[in-house]
Amino acid sequence: MTARIASVIARQVWDSRGRPTVEAEVTLDSGASGRAIAPAGASRGAHEAIDLRDGGAAFGGYGVSRAVSGVAAEIAPALIGMDARDQALVDQTLCALDGTANKARLGGNAIVAVSLAVLHAAAAQAREPLWRYLADGRPVRLPLPEIQIFGGGAHAGRRTDVQDFMVMCPKAGSFRRALEITDDVYRAAGRLMQERGPLSGVADEGGWWPDFQSNEDALDVLTKAIEASGHRAGEDVWISLDIAANELGDASGYTLALDDRRLSGEEMAARIIEWCGRYPILSVEDPAGQDDWQTMGRVMAAIGNRVQVIGDDVLVTNAQRVERAAAAGVCNAALIKVNQVGTVSEAKAALDAAQAHGWGTLVSARSGESEDVAIAHLSTGWNAGQLKVGSFTRSERMAKWNEVLRIEEAMGSQAVYAGASAFAAGIAELLA
Ligand code: PGA
Ligand code: ZN
Repeated sequence: MTARIASVIARQVWDSRGRPTVEAEVTLDSGASGRAIAPAGASRGAHEAIDLRDGGAAFGGYGVSRAVSGVAAEIAPALIGMDARDQALVDQTLCALDGTANKARLGGNAIVAVSLAVLHAAAAQAREPLWRYLADGRPVRLPLPEIQIFGGGAHAGRRTDVQDFMVMCPKAGSFRRALEITDDVYRAAGRLMQERGPLSGVADEGGWWPDFQSNEDALDVLTKAIEASGHRAGEDVWISLDIAANELGDASGYTLALDDRRLSGEEMAARIIEWCGRYPILSVEDPAGQDDWQTMGRVMAAIGNRVQVIGDDVLVTNAQRVERAAAAGVCNAALIKVNQVGTVSEAKAALDAAQAHGWGTLVSARSGESEDVAIAHLSTGWNAGQLKVGSFTRSERMAKWNEVLRIEEAMGSQAVYAGASAFAAGIAELLA
């Protein structure tokens, strides 16, 4: 029996925000099969692959019946008979079939679900867990988790301007221990929030709903929560921010609504640099809008030797944009979201490009997620070094953390936690 694709089917399922999304299922003629669900972003870059949505009144316009039909009508006939182990050819076929630069015709949601389902089927055919199939005999590290404590921005009714207030534990020694420490911080933050007034629930990715007077108030409470948790801020536990500045403006200026401030790019960079001096911040994502490379460059030039500067909307998991960003010196780490570019092979190319420049790499979930745990395997099997999933509640998030725990256990004495080695050279040494 070979690994030839015998069938490709798709269906509409539901994501963690209760919106329709695409699930694809690929079966090989050997009987091996794989399944994947497309995630969905809320703070999306303009250069991302486009999801195909039905529009209209039903499901708020988020229906995916056209994306699902495209799988049956066009994608399945094109892939049937292909070798599932040839991911590059499968993905090239998907891109060519779509024919647009941003996958708008067949939909990034349909294409990413099929691309990932093919990968799962190939691993099943090899009778290997996905992470080990991807590692293909190379040594790999368990990722450093980046875990949200407060969720803001587009994930919490813009209650804070900064989108994610997260923590990182580079010295935890193991992935398991990093989760335990994070749980201490998460609960301490919840206690502090309760003392300040009624808790307002959780944001889209499971972090505490931010109840703050200013963005700095959130940074103060997070620093206090780390200390109250019994761990040392700036030693055991560091703060990591996703500014998601694309949502706040562009090169012409940024609005920090909670702080009642309008900032120029230069002032925005100065604000971020100042926060990184005043708080135990180890990592900052998207401190500027997707095309404001000047502001990104200012931040990078000032603090890139000691703070991880991640490109998300700036890079959109696109290898060419990674190359341009490296030439311009605007980041030292790349967020890798398979659905941002649309296929497994293109996401891997972006990750390879970033690593070739000595950058850190973080495989990332989206704010709209599901029970699909592929990113736990991708972050480990690709040896990305870091994994961003959201917070430490809600099963669409915990499913990923729990899957990495299983992988860590399966590795046994071979398990290596990426820890400080996950960062670009220079930062890694500072933490050592
Ligand atoms: P999104 O945001 O999934 O809502 O686009 C996640 C992020 O900005 O990292
Ligand atoms: Zn982001």
